[in-house]
Amino acid sequence: MTSKKTSRYTRIYAQLEKLMEKCSDTLARMATVNAILYNKVEGVSWVGFYLLKEGQLIVGPYQGPLACQVLEKGKGVCWAGINWQKTIIVPDVHDFPGHVACDSRSQSEIVIPLQNREGEITGVMDIDSRLKDNFDVIDGQELEKICRLIYGQVND
Ligand code: SME
Repeated sequence: MTSKKTSRYTRIYAQLEKLMEKCSDTLARMATVNAILYNKVEGVSWVGFYLLKEGQLIVGPYQGPLACQVLEKGKGVCWAGINWQKTIIVPDVHDFPGHVACDSRSQSEIVIPLQNREGEITGVMDIDSRLKDNFDVIDGQELEKICRLIYGQVND
C-alpha cells in the first residue's frame, strides 16, 4: 500500500517537474524546491542548500530561520554528506558527533548530496526539523529524486 507520505511526495514531485520546465537556472530551481518542500513536507523547520565553493561549504538559497553562512570544513552533517557521498539521516542531532546547530531548536536532520550532470558533487540539500526522528528512508529516496531535478537530469 502506498503510504500517505509517498503519495504526498508524488504530488510534490509532479508539481516540481512542471515548475522546472519554466526555468533551467540552477539557483531558481533551488529556490523553487525550497519553497515547495518548506510548505509541503511535514515537520520541516529549515530547508536549503549548501554549495561547494573553493573547498568551502557556503549557504545557498534557503527557507527558514537565519542559518550559518559558512560551515567549518569537515565538521557536521552537511560535510559528512559531501565526504561520504550519500544521504545521511540523523534521527537525533544530539547523537551526531560534530553536528553544527545553526538553530538550537533543531532535533533531526536529513542531508542529500547534490550531483551535477557530470556526476560531480556540488553541495548538499539540508532539511531540519524541530521534531525528533522526522525523516526516514522514504524521505531519503524521494528527496534524492527531487535533487536530481536541480540540474535537469531525467528520472526514471
Ligand atoms: N546542521 C548542519 C548545519 C546547517 S544547518 O542545519 C542549517 C550540519 O551539521 O552540517
